Amino acid sequence: MQAIGRPGRALPERVLVAGCGSGVEAVILRRRLPQAEIVAVDFSARSITVARRLERAAGSARPIRFLVADLTSPELARQTGGDFDLITCHGVLSYIPKPDQALRSLAACLRPDGALYLGVNGEASPAARLRPWLAGFGFALDELKNERRLRELLRLWDSLHDDELGELATMSVSYLASDVCGSHFKNWPLARWRAEANRGGWEVAGTDLLPTALLLTIARENYRPLFPLWNGEVAARLDQIRPVGFHRMMLRKAKAGELDLAFASKPGQRLRWTGFYSVRFRPTASRRAVKALLNCPTFRLRFEWTLTPPQAAALRSLVASGVSSAGWMTTWRRSAVARRTLWLWCGLGVVAVESATNPAPGTPAPVRRSKKFN
Ligand SMILES: C[S@@+](CC[C@H](N)C(=O)[O-])C[C@H]1O[C@@H](n2cnc3c(N)ncnc32)[C@H](O)[C@@H]1O
Repeated sequence: MQAIGRPGRALPERVLVAGCGSGVEAVILRRRLPQAEIVAVDFSARSITVARRLERAAGSARPIRFLVADLTSPELARQTGGDFDLITCHGVLSYIPKPDQALRSLAACLRPDGALYLGVNGEASPAARLRPWLAGFGFALDELKNERRLRELLRLWDSLHDDELGELATMSVSYLASDVCGSHFKNWPLARWRAEANRGGWEVAGTDLLPTALLLTIARENYRPLFPLWNGEVAARLDQIRPVGFHRMMLRKAKAGELDLAFASKPGQRLRWTGFYSVRFRPTASRRAVKALLNCPTFRLRFEWTLTPPQAAALRSLVASGVSSAGWMTTWRRSAVARRTLWLWCGLGVVAVESATNPAPGTPAPVRRSKKFN
């Protein structure tokens, strides 16, 4: 999250948990970010009471500020104090009538260099098939009325399914009420979520599946029709080929972090070594080629890249300093192959673009920090 959403920045200082439910996410974040100010909001007063109880039981040193607030309200920034550098919104926008309104008010809560993590349902969500099936039994879906009957039907469903979600019949009532029943339900492809986000002033900087999906296209250079589309669009096009049940994406303010492949119009643009990968170099029989072995535990990816000696030297310097120096991009400007390499590395999460309009203040943060947070 840190590497894709806020390359090179220090750990977030102000975090908003948008739609915090019973508070688990906020309490986990408190453990990860003991120094951060954390504000957690939900429009359900009952959820906020449960969340406060959870926080007391967890005994965190620095309190979390829990608030009853509506994400779609234009007053959200004022109510929460705004100025957040990280917002997380997991499993919320799929269940609200107008997610674009929430995306707009969340955008108003963010610092220009901040990032939004969004977790929303995808087209392949089990509920997309499950709901029409339940309706076929005459089961009303707008609210959870008959829990016993629902669990009975779900046991039948589970007996033939091995869903990523596990046994649906054993899920909590609140899960069944929101994820199976409920009047607003959005199991959208990434392209639809992206369009909605774009309207609110956001752009997708990366998703959890983009590196894996992109790597599958690299064999025999099948990725070529995607070049030079940028990460958000690439992720959306790949999701159309192989839809997922849940999207985990990082969003930034529109266009921040897009690689300028002409290397011309954004002279201040720099690249960051994300810290997701480790790299080892291996000489080859030819003096004109060096192999770089890239290994990423986060995405469970491992691949080899053939580089020219100047490219290998440039990569070494990037890994050592964490950020591209002045003139670094000239190595990649030289050929179409080199430009495509850099573009692919952005999609694979090897490097991330530091926005030219929002250069990181002061000394660059050590890359180690981003590793700790991802
Ligand atoms: C499925 S829960 C997810 C909770 C938490 N983010 C998690 O991952 O555990 C969805 C939460 O979003 C809240 N919610 C839905 N619409 C909201 C809105 N417009 N404003 C604030 N909270 C909202 C619900 O009350 C519920 O607690």
